Amino acid sequence: HEWHAWLRALPKAELHLHIEGTLEPEMMFELAGRNGIVLPYADVQAVRDAYQFTDLQSFLDLYYAGAGVLVTEQDFYDLTMAYLRHAQADGVVHAELMFDPQTHTQRGIALETVFAGLARALREARDTLGISSYLLLSFLRHLSEDEAFATLEAALPLREAYADLWIGIGLDSSERGNPPEKFARVYGRCAELGFRLVAHAGEEGPPAYVRSALDTLKVARIDHGVRSSEDPALLQDLIRRRVPLTVCPLSNLKLGVVHHLRNHNLAKLLRAGAVVTVNSDDPAYFGGYVLDNYIASADALDLSRDELVTLAANSLKASFLPPAEQAGLL
Ligand code: HPA
Ligand code: ZN
Repeated sequence: HEWHAWLRALPKAELHLHIEGTLEPEMMFELAGRNGIVLPYADVQAVRDAYQFTDLQSFLDLYYAGAGVLVTEQDFYDLTMAYLRHAQADGVVHAELMFDPQTHTQRGIALETVFAGLARALREARDTLGISSYLLLSFLRHLSEDEAFATLEAALPLREAYADLWIGIGLDSSERGNPPEKFARVYGRCAELGFRLVAHAGEEGPPAYVRSALDTLKVARIDHGVRSSEDPALLQDLIRRRVPLTVCPLSNLKLGVVHHLRNHNLAKLLRAGAVVTVNSDDPAYFGGYVLDNYIASADALDLSRDELVTLAANSLKASFLPPAEQAGLL
C-alpha cells in the first residue's frame, strides 16, 4: 500500500511504550538459554499461543513472568536495541520508554544493571539510528506507596549519571483498586525533584481515576485515558487544558477494553479536539509496533490523511522534548 510508506515516513514520537513489553518470544528463549532459565513453554509458538488475554491482569501475569529472563546488562541492552530498530523502521524519531524497576529489583537484579543496559542502547541509537529518547521510571501501582518511595530513593543516586535520559516518572500495572491518589505523596516528591509526570489512568479504571491523576498527581499526560469520554466534563477539561492522551489501540483490543477497533473512541476523541497520540504499549504481547497501530486505526476508523498527520504531529508536541527540538523534528 502506497499510503503505508507515506505513514511510515511521517516523523513520529512513541510516548507510551513499556520496554519489558517489547520482549519477543524469540528473544525470551534466547535470553532464557544464556541465563540458564527453563521456560514453562515448549517453543516460541507455545508462547504466542499463550497470549490470549481477557483483561489487563491476565496480560500482566505473563508480562511479569516473561521479564524474568532479563538478568544481565547485556540482556537489557539487547532488548532495548531490538525495540529501537523496530521503532526506526516505523518512522519513530523520538521515544519515551517506560521501565518497571520493581519488576527487576524484586528478583535481585541491581537497579544499576537495568539503567546501564537501557542507557547503553539508547545512547548508541542516538548516534547510529538517529533516534532520541527519554526514560520514564514507572512505579507498580499494585505495590505500596512506601515501596514506590524506596524505589525512588534507590534510583536517585543514579540520576546524575543518567540525567540525559531519565527525565520522568510513570505509574502502571493493575489499575482497578489502585487509584492514582494512592501515590499522591511520592508524586509530590517527584514533582519537587523536577521530574516530568505521567500516569496510566482510564484504561480499565473509571474516569474518576483520570481526574485524580490530573488534579492529585498533577501529571502532564495521561497514559490511555480512553474511558475519559464517559465523563463529558472531564473530557472538556482535557481538551481545554490540552492534556495529551497516549492511546494504544491494539493494546485496548487485546485486553478487551474495546471488542473491535471499529468501536474504539480514538477518532471521536481526536475529532472532539483532544490531543490524541497513537502508541504500541507492549508490542511483543499485543501484536503490533507503532506503525501497525496507526494502520489498524486508520483502517478501522477511516482516519483521513490530515488526521494521521495530526496524530503524528501531536506525538512530537506531546513529548517532553524541548520545544525547539520538537520544531526541528516536525
Ligand atoms: N496497563 C497497565 N500496566 C501496564 C500496561 C498497561 O497497558 N502495560 C505494561 N504495564
Ligand atoms: Zn501502558
